[in-house]
Amino acid sequence: MIYLDNAATSGIKPSRVIGAVEYALKKYSANPGRSGHRLSMNAAMAVYNTREKLKEMFAATQVENVVFTLNCTHALNCVIKGVLSSGDHVVVSDLEHNAVMRPLERLRKDGKITYSVARTVDGDDNATLSSFKNCIKQNTKLIICTHASNVFGCVMPIKLIGQMCKENGILFAVDAAQSAGVLDIDMQKMSIDFLCVAAHKGLFAPMGTGVLIAEKPLENTIIEGGTGTDSFNLDQPLIMPEMLESGTVNLPGILGVSAGVDFVKARGVRNIYLHEFDLCKYLFESLSLCKNVTLYNNDFKIFEKVPVVSFNVLGHDSNDVAVRLNEYGIAVRSGFHCAPSAHIKYGTDQIGTVRVSPGILTKKEEIQYLIKILKRF
Ligand code: ALA
Repeated sequence: MIYLDNAATSGIKPSRVIGAVEYALKKYSANPGRSGHRLSMNAAMAVYNTREKLKEMFAATQVENVVFTLNCTHALNCVIKGVLSSGDHVVVSDLEHNAVMRPLERLRKDGKITYSVARTVDGDDNATLSSFKNCIKQNTKLIICTHASNVFGCVMPIKLIGQMCKENGILFAVDAAQSAGVLDIDMQKMSIDFLCVAAHKGLFAPMGTGVLIAEKPLENTIIEGGTGTDSFNLDQPLIMPEMLESGTVNLPGILGVSAGVDFVKARGVRNIYLHEFDLCKYLFESLSLCKNVTLYNNDFKIFEKVPVVSFNVLGHDSNDVAVRLNEYGIAVRSGFHCAPSAHIKYGTDQIGTVRVSPGILTKKEEIQYLIKILKRF
């Protein structure tokens, strides 16, 4: 199978990640932070070391701010429901995933919050920044922005928005589902208060792993329970990261994250990006010559796009194209990609798009084969 669906999850996990998960199951099968025996302590140390690697990778200030979650959606829910109280206002971009929009909509329908949607302008960072600025109200508590659209790849001016949030005393959360491990992220330089990561994508970890880095306190939790600390206190501990990590953590997954971070570091975030970007640019330019293909970005400029290309084939439903590609042994994702507002913005809310997302091991010949097949439609 030619796997071109890395934006959904990185398809080929590095052997060091597979080895780390296996090693965890064999050697670390003890509950970290729950017992004083050697096995439990070793497991706790392995978890701590992984937090430290993530702290360094994303320039967080404290190891304790790094929280392991189930996925990026879980991390975003922790932020949205942990930060917002009655009467608060939120600003989001018009490219957000349902991981942001559904929790917000739930709070809005409950009468707790309101939110505004800022119109992003692809390729014009200042115009995007102005849209966010224009949405700010007196009660705006939080701005949430995707670092890059999971459908159209557009990279958002996170540093500019972060600076603006800082100047206005607004909390800033970034959905880095498509960017962590692909673009450099420095939480301090970008003034990010909450970073939400899908570790199973750009960090090559197993599915079921996500990360939240919370540089600012959260007021509420979405799940409470045992943390291995302060057991006689029936109130949830407010100490991080325990506050947000009730119940036994996914130790094999966390060791997979650790090995995934090592893999990304060894390859280099920049090299990973350039490899995948070059393939997408080649695909984009080739498809732009095909009369039967509609592309949705004006161009495919370096560092303005993450490596995803969305398109449609004239006269074909996007899902039918994906089904047909599957018959040729090519895996892509079609439809709406859980991001309805991005599709509304680009006018693809009726038909969806076919999305191609190459990975670190994708070869140019595989993209050439895809183009050859698409020309037959
Ligand atoms: N959010 C993931 C995607 O874009 C699953 O495919």
